Amino acid sequence: MASGFDAVSVFTGDDCSAALLQELHSQGVQYLVTRSAGVDHIDIDAAKKLGIRVANVPAYSPHAIAEHGIAMMLALTRKLILADNQVHQQDFRLDNLVGFNLHHKTVGLIGTGKIGAITAKILHGFGCQLLAYDIHPDESLTEKYGVVFTTLAELCAAADIISLHTPLNPSTKYLVNDALISTMKDGVMIINTARGAVVNTTAIIHGLTTGKIGFYGMDVYEKEKGVFFYDHGGEDLHDVQLEQLLSMNNVLLTPHQAFATTEALGSIAQSCFQHFDAWDRGQQAQFEL
Ligand code: NAI
Repeated sequence: MASGFDAVSVFTGDDCSAALLQELHSQGVQYLVTRSAGVDHIDIDAAKKLGIRVANVPAYSPHAIAEHGIAMMLALTRKLILADNQVHQQDFRLDNLVGFNLHHKTVGLIGTGKIGAITAKILHGFGCQLLAYDIHPDESLTEKYGVVFTTLAELCAAADIISLHTPLNPSTKYLVNDALISTMKDGVMIINTARGAVVNTTAIIHGLTTGKIGFYGMDVYEKEKGVFFYDHGGEDLHDVQLEQLLSMNNVLLTPHQAFATTEALGSIAQSCFQHFDAWDRGQQAQFEL
């Protein structure tokens, strides 16, 4: 957390609970910018009550996240991590490297806002059949990329790959749970670049253990706070579920890095300073919540 005189900038791993905001307020903090699109780590109601003005960066580069999700899909379908590990052992066999085409696969997008829409565009290029579920369907995606909006149940029943692009809020917490996973195709691939708690991690591990889930690409993790963004090499993580996930070779885990491109980071910095400048001039910040 970086602090100035009366303003701070935070990120998704930071604690912005009511208690922390109260402490910041008591130290004179009046403005808070999060260098993220998601705001689930901030108690917005508590900030409002304290008079702390909050702004986020809703669209720094949705391409960065969409492209990372596609990279995870390809790495899993084509077993790229395994191949890389093997060739470094001078093992050039193909026996366990047979993957599958994305072409003609049915991909279900849960959430078709900025990131989901770009994911749809890219997957349309691969020749995928696209199903989508969103509480606010964007019908233009049907015309542009052939996206068929449907129910969550129908999406889960038909999709070979399911990619998550919703915010974390009360309506999406544990959206992917045991009951939903049981309705999915056997061997389904799930890609989560959204937020850890959009899935129930226990249910995901159960699905992976039984083979119901064939592949899981995760850039986010329910208990990532205090773990991701730090080097814990050689330490005991004291997290059995994370250890289980890390031990499975059909799980690809990246440490909340989908946003980490030079383009996105530059755009985030620019937006943050624009917010601070606007407040300094006594104006409303562009993305004030
Ligand atoms: P967005 O606001 O443009 O789109 C979110 C979509 O989800 C909207 O269309 C909304 O209608 C839909 N939605 C909300 N609740 C829903 C529900 N219960 N069921 C179905 N659909 C629902 O947001 P954007 O920019 O596409 O980002 C999505 C999320 O991606 C962010 O909220 C954030 O959590 C995550 N994210 C992850 C990053 C990473 O580095 N891994 C970086 C940036 C964002």
